[in-house]
Amino acid sequence: KKVLFAASEVVPFIKTGGLADVVGSLPKCFDKKYYDVRVILPKYACIAQKWKDQMEYITNFYMDFAGQNRYVGLLKMEYDGITFYFIDNEYYFSGEKPYGDWHWDIEKFMYFDRAVLSALPVLDFRPDVIHCHDWQTGLIPVYLHDSFWGGEFFRGIKTVMTIHNLKFQGNDNAARFMALSGLSSYYMTYDKLLKDVDGNMLKGGLVYADAITTVSDSYAEEIKTQFYGEGLDGLMRARKNDLRGIVNGIDYAEYDPATDKMINCNYDINSVLEKKIMNKRALQSELGLTCDDNKFMIGIVSRLTDQKGFDLIAYMMEKLCQQDIQIVVLGTGDQKYEEMFRYFAWKYPDKVSANMYYSEAMSHKIYAASDAFLMPSLFEPCGLSQLMSLRYGTLPIVRETGGLRDTVQPYNQFEKTGTGFSFSNYNAHEMYNTVMFAHYIYVDRRDEWNGIIRQAMSKDFSWQASARKYQEMYDWLIG
Ligand code: ADP
Ligand code: GLC
Repeated sequence: KKVLFAASEVVPFIKTGGLADVVGSLPKCFDKKYYDVRVILPKYACIAQKWKDQMEYITNFYMDFAGQNRYVGLLKMEYDGITFYFIDNEYYFSGEKPYGDWHWDIEKFMYFDRAVLSALPVLDFRPDVIHCHDWQTGLIPVYLHDSFWGGEFFRGIKTVMTIHNLKFQGNDNAARFMALSGLSSYYMTYDKLLKDVDGNMLKGGLVYADAITTVSDSYAEEIKTQFYGEGLDGLMRARKNDLRGIVNGIDYAEYDPATDKMINCNYDINSVLEKKIMNKRALQSELGLTCDDNKFMIGIVSRLTDQKGFDLIAYMMEKLCQQDIQIVVLGTGDQKYEEMFRYFAWKYPDKVSANMYYSEAMSHKIYAASDAFLMPSLFEPCGLSQLMSLRYGTLPIVRETGGLRDTVQPYNQFEKTGTGFSFSNYNAHEMYNTVMFAHYIYVDRRDEWNGIIRQAMSKDFSWQASARKYQEMYDWLIG
């Protein structure tokens, strides 16, 4: 069975968030005897040279797009047992970042979606299923449905649309949308691609895909409600029989405290209590924080956006800094949050470390060194950072929403069960009280704390179980 993943970012080539982790690690976890899973993505100019050097040119052709004759270059690379295809076009993919300017991004990914389908006969690869990820690939199921693609080669190809984040939809006013996409006014109705006064790429994918998935059970339920539905909850309810949640895993080889080369001292579940502390010492001294084994260190690794609950943190930051704790932040995003963390790092240099940049190595050091990991998201389709924390024996403090709710089991002091700490309402005081409860367990009930670490590290959040669910879904679709 042949499956093609289409996505806008893929580890290790290009990453802005969890989407790249998922599309980079999941394809490796299918049963190779039965599933030939390949991946296609843009060849951005900002992909590191060492990867570009390993790409192999296949061929090129020209494609009619938005009234122009556009170049489509095709490259290929075998990596870690998976075939990756890259679509090359210097006009569209030359930016310093994969995306950022929404107006331009719409056109860029319409081109990509069209190019992916046009490339298939040229590559002589006919997938049974095209698995699309997020709004950037939302037009693939629409183009496949459109009579333009009615040729024999495309007949019967099934599509899956996976929602990693419903907030981003790829919309633009209907006239411009039609002109660029080449889709007729037939599609610009409310039961198809129209939302408000815009054409909407994600909505297209959600209307025309054969199956829809999202990245946790709770988020699959939440998006059927108005609060989480981003204006598409009606559609989610209408398609509820084709919608299911399949929780994300993480790459257990990449994120393994026993072998991780980016951290100071390796450890596993048997040595965590003696050795994890070495990572805390190393990070305290690297970042200029007070060197003290008993300071409760809270890590944050995140995009700095409203989604992740930073307004709650901003509201409580002064009060948190009055406590005997340390906060280590790694992130980039909204300027107001970058400035907020820089301010507190300036005011409390021995307690707060603000690292406003992107670094794979620093993220691993924080997962390994911290005692707790704070993630009070407003909404969270799945979340991978809390899974990485659990794997490193760093206890997550989360809000009970989406994947956070499904993957972190709150500590129950009476039964001594749980893997982290959580609160339910989007309320700064609730978050603060939960942080202080964790702090209390850490300071006054260290045996209990250590027990939770063992429980956290013995959970399995590898891809095994979820990859099987995707396989079952492909089987069902292919029939
Ligand atoms: P989202 O995809 O919504 O950003 P996830 O929790 O699913 O959230 O995934 C975030 C991923 O990005 C994790 O792998 C996390 O470690 C990584 N990450 C986020 N910010 C940074 C940063 N500044 N430096 C390094 N890695 C980061
Ligand atoms: C999105 C979501 C995040 C999820 C990731 C991968 O970026 O915000 O919750 O883990 O996609 O599915």
